[in-house]
Amino acid sequence: MIFRPYNFSAGPAALPTEVLETAASQMLSYQESGIGPMEMSHRTDLFLEIMDSARETLRELLEIPQSHDILFMQGGGIAQNAIVPLNLMGHRNPSNPVADFVVSGTWSRKTETEASKYGKANRSFELVARSPLEHLNVVPELFSENASYVHVCSNETIEGVEIRNLAQFARSTPHPIVVDASSNMLSTPVDFSQVGVLYAGAQKNAGIAGLTIVVVRKDLMGHAHPFCPSAFDWRLVSEHCSMYNTPPTYGIYIAGLVFRWIRDNGGVVAMERQSFLKSSALYDCIDRSALFANHIDPSYRSRINVPFHLEDRSLEGRFLEQAEIAGLVHLKGHKSTGGFRASLYNAMPSEGVTALVEFMREFERKA
Ligand SMILES: Cc1ncc(COP(=O)(O)O)c(C=O)c1O
Repeated sequence: MIFRPYNFSAGPAALPTEVLETAASQMLSYQESGIGPMEMSHRTDLFLEIMDSARETLRELLEIPQSHDILFMQGGGIAQNAIVPLNLMGHRNPSNPVADFVVSGTWSRKTETEASKYGKANRSFELVARSPLEHLNVVPELFSENASYVHVCSNETIEGVEIRNLAQFARSTPHPIVVDASSNMLSTPVDFSQVGVLYAGAQKNAGIAGLTIVVVRKDLMGHAHPFCPSAFDWRLVSEHCSMYNTPPTYGIYIAGLVFRWIRDNGGVVAMERQSFLKSSALYDCIDRSALFANHIDPSYRSRINVPFHLEDRSLEGRFLEQAEIAGLVHLKGHKSTGGFRASLYNAMPSEGVTALVEFMREFERKA
């Protein structure tokens, strides 16, 4: 029996053990073909079946309507920071590309900065996590009249800020909403009637690094800037069923296994319920403690990435060392924030959170 600690990494992150076991059992031979998924040409019937099945399971899990296409791309969220404006910023007026940005943390700030290379990037809102300045659903007049889209990061992985009232927010603007859901995709249902584009790197909640999932409303394709690289033109990628260039085949295979695991474990609604239970247990422990703290406004606290710190920062090293001995790993916070961060993606079992909470209580008792 291999010892596997509870892995709280923000990404690449823990995968469900069942997924890894299936992948291991098929490593040398997929469906008695004598060929493993990593070795297969993307043009073979076997791989096409893997990809179609992954796409359809994702469609079923998130109830993605036929008005939207599912693209399997590469380059991660950072590449989409350029790919989105290259495809969409000039959608309304190619000679005056404009988009609006909700800045709620590090990732959405990066998105805004990258987009400003391609047109006018308006900062419509800045959410300050400690005291939200605006409630997203009440200030539609802050949107630019001529914006081609409004960009939102639904979960800021570093600060632990999650925007949960996305559909309500989307209804307050006439512009298509583009969502960076890199860290909370598949942990909550999405109302795609309110979403123009949703993208996520797979390495947190949907598999391994190298695959980027992009869900695009079909009428938002076909407006790419002439300089947009062909491999990043959503319409071309869609017309070639994500085979315009060689797709990240192994990432798609693993994502397909993860999607099936989610389906077999109650679907996205069950994942959401679990994420509320897991994160509430941890926030409750932090809030009751005199030693640990999280200063994010409770209405924006992330269910997925829970940052916290010790009021006495000199104890940080000891906490991490002892946590590791207790089988709780990758709890170090992002270098920009310091402290700790527990990432509670779908693959983190509730037992992992219970073990962390017990460890924190014991650490505090002894401190
Ligand atoms: C919310 C969010 N957006 C974008 C990114 C960047 O993704 P990638 O490293 O896959 O380009 C990350 C990475 O952690 C993220 O958490």
